[in-house]
Amino acid sequence: MKKVTRIFFSPSGTTKKVVDKIAGSFKYEKEVCDLLHFNADKEFTENDIVIVGMPVFAGRIPKTARDRLSKLTGDNTKAIAVANYGNAKVGDALLEIVDILKENNFDVIGAISAVSHHSIFDGVAVGRPDNADLEKLSEFGEKCVEKIESGESLQAEIPGNKPYVDYNQLPFTISCDLDKCVFCYDCVTVCPEKAIPDEDPADIDLDICSRCTACIHICQENARSFSGEAFEAKKPIFESANSERKEVEYYL
Ligand SMILES: Cc1cc2nc3c(=O)[nH]c(=O)nc-3n(C[C@H](O)[C@H](O)[C@H](O)COP(=O)(O)O)c2cc1C
Repeated sequence: MKKVTRIFFSPSGTTKKVVDKIAGSFKYEKEVCDLLHFNADKEFTENDIVIVGMPVFAGRIPKTARDRLSKLTGDNTKAIAVANYGNAKVGDALLEIVDILKENNFDVIGAISAVSHHSIFDGVAVGRPDNADLEKLSEFGEKCVEKIESGESLQAEIPGNKPYVDYNQLPFTISCDLDKCVFCYDCVTVCPEKAIPDEDPADIDLDICSRCTACIHICQENARSFSGEAFEAKKPIFESANSERKEVEYYL
C-alpha cells in the first residue's frame, strides 16, 4: 500500500500549508516529517511518495533545512519538490531541492515554486497562498497523481544556476521584548539552531540564528520581532520593489 509523507521545514507555517494542499490530491495514507524538529537519518522505500517543501532564504534553501533533508534517502522513491517563496525571488532553491533529492536516490516527478506571505517583510504577498494559488496547487497535485500512475519521471528542466548563488545571511536583528515575554520557552524549543538560551530568551545568539522566524511566529505574546535601523530602513524599499504579484509555476 502506498503512503504519502509530507516533509517540510516551515518556520512561519506557509510551506506546510502549500505541501498539505498538494498532498490533498492523493488518496493514500499520509504521514508528516517536520524538519523543524526532525533531524535524523530516515529511509524511504519504493512504496513511499514524498512531497518536500522548503522556504526560500536568499535564493537558496535554509542551511539547517538542507542539512536535515540530506539525511533522508530514497529507494527510487517518487518525490515532488516544492520551493515556497515570498514574492521576491525563488533563485536556485527549487533546483537545489531537486538536486538533493536526486542525489539521495529519489525519483523526482514534479517540482513547483509557490508564492506565500513574506515571513520577514509582512507587507509583501499578504494573504497568500490565496484561492487562486490553492487552485493551482491542486491542479499540480492532480497532475502528479497522473504521473505516478504512468510511472514517468520529471521531464522539464528546472531553472537555476550551477554553482548556486552564494547564501548571504540577512543582517537583521531579532529582538525580544521582556515586558511582553512570559518565559514560556516555546521559542527556545522551536529554534532549529538552538540559538536561544533557556536562562534568557532575549539573549539570542545571532551568529548561529538563521533568522528563520520560527521563534517570532510561535510567540503567543508577540514579544519577538525584527528590529533595528537596518531593518526599518530596508522594509519600505523591499515592500515597494516586490509589490507586483508573481505566480505559482510548476514543472513536470
Ligand atoms: C531569512 C529569510 C530569507 C528569505 N529570503 C527570501 C528570498 O530570497 N526570496 C523570497 O521571495 N522570499 C524570501 N523569504 C520569504 C520566505 O521564503 C517566505 O515567506 C516563505 O513563505 C516562508 O515559509 P514558511 O512560512 O514556511 O516559513 C525569506 C524569509 C526569510 C526568513
